[in-house]
Amino acid sequence: MREDIMSAIQCIGILTSGGDSPGMNAAIRAVTRAALQHSMTVKGIYHGYKGLITNQVVNFQTRDVSNIIQRGGTILRTARCEEFRTPEGRKKAYECLQEHGINALVVIGGDGSLTGARIFAQEFNFPIVGLPGTIDNDLYGTDVTIGYDTALNTIMECVDKIRDTATSHERLFFIEVMGREAGFLALNGSIASGAEAAIIPEISSQRDQLSDMIEHSFNTSKTSSIVLVTEGEITGGGAAGVAERVKKEYPQFDVRVSILGHLQRGGSPSAQDRILATRMGVAAIDALLDDQRNVMIGIHNDTIVHVPFSKAIKNIKSINTDIMRALEIVSK
Ligand code: F6P
Repeated sequence: MREDIMSAIQCIGILTSGGDSPGMNAAIRAVTRAALQHSMTVKGIYHGYKGLITNQVVNFQTRDVSNIIQRGGTILRTARCEEFRTPEGRKKAYECLQEHGINALVVIGGDGSLTGARIFAQEFNFPIVGLPGTIDNDLYGTDVTIGYDTALNTIMECVDKIRDTATSHERLFFIEVMGREAGFLALNGSIASGAEAAIIPEISSQRDQLSDMIEHSFNTSKTSSIVLVTEGEITGGGAAGVAERVKKEYPQFDVRVSILGHLQRGGSPSAQDRILATRMGVAAIDALLDDQRNVMIGIHNDTIVHVPFSKAIKNIKSINTDIMRALEIVSK
């Protein structure tokens, strides 16, 4: 079977799509070099799916991916492409793949990018393997995603710095982190930086975390406190929304807000992200050679796994309650 497929897949395309994440370059490097080792031709597609619609495709040799493992962002650039959501846009993308003789695609991106990959693969019966590239860590079926560890480290370093001024001024800081509708960055960022609490979407939909926190768990002997809040409406409007509420309902606190924003997406990838991206990149080519289609490469208990797109995208990855409990215990 493998031999047949090897001859069927002679040319692969790689693209990065959606929000960038540290480690995407390490993944591009690994995919390219693994494919070249199997005598495939490699095409780099610029600007995500948009590059397929506008024909931004270049040949990649091993030297094209030299000296990039340590770089943040993505050398292929990235985009969120509205046109790819339409059947006309996807048809143009398919024609571009045909024109370049590309037989299979490796898509590196998050939820939205893999959703696009799934639709396209079904529509044109085209082999695609996905790699989970997002700082949000919100893809089901993989313990971690490429970029998550680096973003967590960035958050930790920022919060360490904010703590200095929070302590000096005896203030309550609400620090907003990314994550879209997932609280992994806020929760684990809180543990890593010794923050007093995390307000995350997974819990916000069940109970009022702010009043719980202030009335039950806030240690009144503490003169300053730090709370990490996941961005977005579910947490009550992110850090700014929560802070507004505190000012009205608990005026005894001297409140400040800090929004970490896009600096969480940048920077040189951590060792963990480089290793993860490299393993996953090699696994993507192995998967294509083993006739795997429509799967995302994941990692579970340090073992590479193949997760059908349908599961990776549709299933909700839940927050580990042990981690929540640990935060509650150590922040008292
Ligand atoms: O999905 C990654 C992510 O960084 C989210 O955490 C965030 O909500 C979003 O992308 C921001 O997207 P953009 O860079 O397009 O504003």
